[in-house]
Parts: sequence; structure tokens; C-alpha cells
Amino acid sequence: MKPPSTDWQERIAPDEEAHLKHVAEVIGNLQRHRSARYGPGRALHRKQLLATTGTLEVLDGLPEQARHGLFATPGAHRVLARFSNGGPEVQSNRTPDIRGFAIQVFGVDGPSALGGTTDHQDFLMINQDRLPTRDSREFVDFLEAATPGVIAGLLHFFKAHGLIGGFARVRALFASLGKKFNGFAAERFSTVAPLCCGPYAVRVRLKPVGNPPPSARSKDIVADLRERLAIGPVQWDMELQFFVDEATTPIEDTSKSWPDSETPIVTVARLSLNAAGDATAKQAEAARFDPWAGLATHRPLGEIMRARKAAYYASQQGRP
Ligand code: HEM
Repeated sequence: MKPPSTDWQERIAPDEEAHLKHVAEVIGNLQRHRSARYGPGRALHRKQLLATTGTLEVLDGLPEQARHGLFATPGAHRVLARFSNGGPEVQSNRTPDIRGFAIQVFGVDGPSALGGTTDHQDFLMINQDRLPTRDSREFVDFLEAATPGVIAGLLHFFKAHGLIGGFARVRALFASLGKKFNGFAAERFSTVAPLCCGPYAVRVRLKPVGNPPPSARSKDIVADLRERLAIGPVQWDMELQFFVDEATTPIEDTSKSWPDSETPIVTVARLSLNAAGDATAKQAEAARFDPWAGLATHRPLGEIMRARKAAYYASQQGRP
């Protein structure tokens, strides 16, 4: 296995500023369109499934490459978690979708990736280890196509990308949406896009503790998680997967998985979540989970992360 490397690089396109404006516009349009139908809410990950609280216990004796920022000191941190469906729609949980798992980790203190200082570190994860798109241009193209509705979206794709290109893109999206989901307690989650851990680049992941059985096919994913939380804390190990080189672990291509067999992976913390009531649900719905909300030591990396800074800000401005 290759050792972790600090030799990562970001690429900035000459027209990035104009593109970021476009990202904010597309997100704003999508959000307004769906808010007219469903009421105020997020542009994406609109449907909150469940919210919980708990703790993140940073482990003692971590290797040097992991001991930065949140992971520099062992100890317990309070956590707020929001589980969501990924799309802009409010629809049945049985509809294929990407599933979101966002956590806000409190009790940190230091310079923020957004400037100023911060007291929390957010991690936004999904049940995938790659996206159907390599960069934010392709991602936002999907969102722009989806804004007026499915049929208009498909027409846009075939017009913009031709029959073969349009088909390939739509197929990648459906493969991602249709990935088998075993329920939140039994699934792995990943930030997919990288962030810093001091001088290193990492993807952050969650892995269920033990070997919890998958949710029964017939069971609703919210009922499944609720029932498990009612018995006791549900736990995941937090792992850092380290960058080794651009070919194996690309910074600028989120359509590529980083292979487990070729990357150093360090378990850095244990997340334990407990059942919570309506006040937590309200708090999570109003909270601003954001990949850029956190320590400068964990600054998000790459083009797609910079686009997300514009996207989340636009969505936050458009909701209560
Ligand atoms: C790279 C992989 C990505 C992951 C792992 C991810 C994950 C998430 C998660 C978990 C949430 C829900 C947060 C919550 O519960 O409040 C979320 C929300 C959102 N995502 Fe992403 N996302 C990714 C990429 C993107 C991209 C590329 C864009 C757009 C360029 C985007 C735009 C949004 C927006 C607008 C929201 C709603 C923000 C709000 O109003 O709070 N995401 N994302």
C-alpha cells in the first residue's frame, strides 16, 4: 500500500468566477421552483427523514498524519445529525434516491475555512463513494435540467449532449440513484469530495460498528432507524482515507472512487447517536450544515467543493 502524500494539487479554471455565479443561479432557480410546490426548504436534500443527537469520541493514539484539527486531541464532542433524501423533491422514501447523513460536531475552536473563527466542524456525507459527475459543471447541468421537471430535463440532456452523451449521463445518474440501500444503520457513508487534514488530503467516511443486519426490504428507512435508536445508541466508526497520488486518488474527479486496497485508512473516532424528539428535528431543519463550516485545518479541496461554497450559501439564503 502506498503511503499518504502531501503532494496534492487543486486546479482552478480561468472562468471559475463566472461559473460560480451560474451555480448560485441554478441552485436559486431550483429552490424557488420546488418551494413554490412544497413550501420553504433546501434546494437539495429537501426531505429531512430524521434528526438525532449524540457524541463523536476522537480516539487516543492516532498516527501523526491524522492528528490535525478535530482529530488532534482525544475526547468526546457533542453532535447534531440530520438524515435526508438527496433530491429536491418531497417524495416517498421508496423512490430511488441518494441518502444524506450530515453531522455538526461541536466543541472545536479555531480559524474557520470560511474566515473568522468557528466552534463546530460539519461533515456532509452520502451513501456513495463517488458521484455520477466528475465536476460541478456536469452536476449543475443535471440540476438545471431537472428544474422544470423530468421530461423537460431529459429533452435538455439529449439536446445538449447528443444521443450517446445524453444517454451515458442519464444512465450514470440512474445507477447512482438506484444503488441498493440497506438502511442508515447498516450503510457506509462518504464525503466523496476531499478535504484537508492538516497538510494531507482525505475523504471522510462512516462505517457501521459491528455488523448490523440490513434493513428489511419491506421496511421504511425511517422506521428502521427509529426502531434501532429506540433500543440503544447506533454507532459508526469515522475513518480518514488518505490521498496517495493523483492517478489513484484524484482531487478533481468525484466520479472516481478512491480504492480501499491502495489507500491508507485510519479510524479516527466513533460516532454514537441516540433517539431524539421534535425539538431536535426542528433544530436540524433550521441548521446550516455546510462542507465549508469548519476549521481551516479541514478546508474543503477541489473545484466541486468551491462550487459547493456558492451553492450552499445560495440555498441557505433562500430558506428560513
Ligand atoms: C461531493 C459530494 C456531495 C455530498 C457528499 C453532499 C452531501 C450533502 C448533504 C448530506 C446535504 C444535506 C445537508 C443537510 O442535511 O442539511 C447536502 C445539501 C445540499 N447540497 Fe450537497 N453534497 C455533495 C455535492 C453537492 C454539489 C456538487 C452541490 C452543488 C453544486 C450540492 C448542493 C447542495 C445544496 C444546495 C444543499 C442544500 C443546502 C442547504 O440549504 O442547507 N451538493 N449535500
